[in-house]
Amino acid sequence: MMQISIDGPAGAGKSTVSKELASRLNIIYIDTGAMYRALTWKAYNSKISVEDEDSLTDLAKSTEISFITNPAGQRIFCDGIDITEVIRDPIINDLVAKVAYHPRVREIMVRKQKDYSIDRSIIMDGRDIGELVLPHADFKFFLTASIDVRSNRRYQEMTAKGYEVDLLSLKEMISVRDNWDSTRSVGALKILDDSIVIDTSDLSEEEVLEKMIRIIKEGSRAL
Ligand code: CDP
Repeated sequence: MMQISIDGPAGAGKSTVSKELASRLNIIYIDTGAMYRALTWKAYNSKISVEDEDSLTDLAKSTEISFITNPAGQRIFCDGIDITEVIRDPIINDLVAKVAYHPRVREIMVRKQKDYSIDRSIIMDGRDIGELVLPHADFKFFLTASIDVRSNRRYQEMTAKGYEVDLLSLKEMISVRDNWDSTRSVGALKILDDSIVIDTSDLSEEEVLEKMIRIIKEGSRAL
């Protein structure tokens, strides 16, 4: 069994790399950011305020989030509804870190995430995976990149999907979100003592993958 956590700030390349790594290692991948996005999408549609921790916690408890992986990619479902695309909307980008800020909401989400990982090989990406969800992971990666590179990547992604976004405001929004994510009391984004930090600013996706696979191969021999 092999468990790998991949944490890091927005736009560091976590989900692209995690997906590909999981497929090469032939193990399951769970995008925990998508789970917080799913909850945020439901809260937004239910007109629940991002400040209302009680209602958000109840919502987290009663919401069923699931993933289906097929050759065409991974889809995420919220109470049976396919929400893969809608959770990438700018409005969700804007609200998600505020929903994820609440300790009791996180407690429920972390429990759901731990349930996915029981007794199976898995790669999970997020913010607090190495610290709280998979504290005993075999490899704990922390992917990062400069704010300019991260905002540029996100800009390309969003425009390719047809969203009209402005690079400067995107950069501002990512910085604000990073700040929410790094300063909360529970599950804050941080480098751990056992994190393997990779700065992806000047690396292609393939170079990042090669680096990670080399580390995993060398580390597995030592395990
Ligand atoms: O893809 P991107 O890096 O923009 O974000 P994401 O991984 O989809 O995560 C969206 C948001 O969910 C983050 O900004 C965090 O506020 C929250 N999140 C979290 O709090 N803990 C996690 N394990 C994963 C995501």
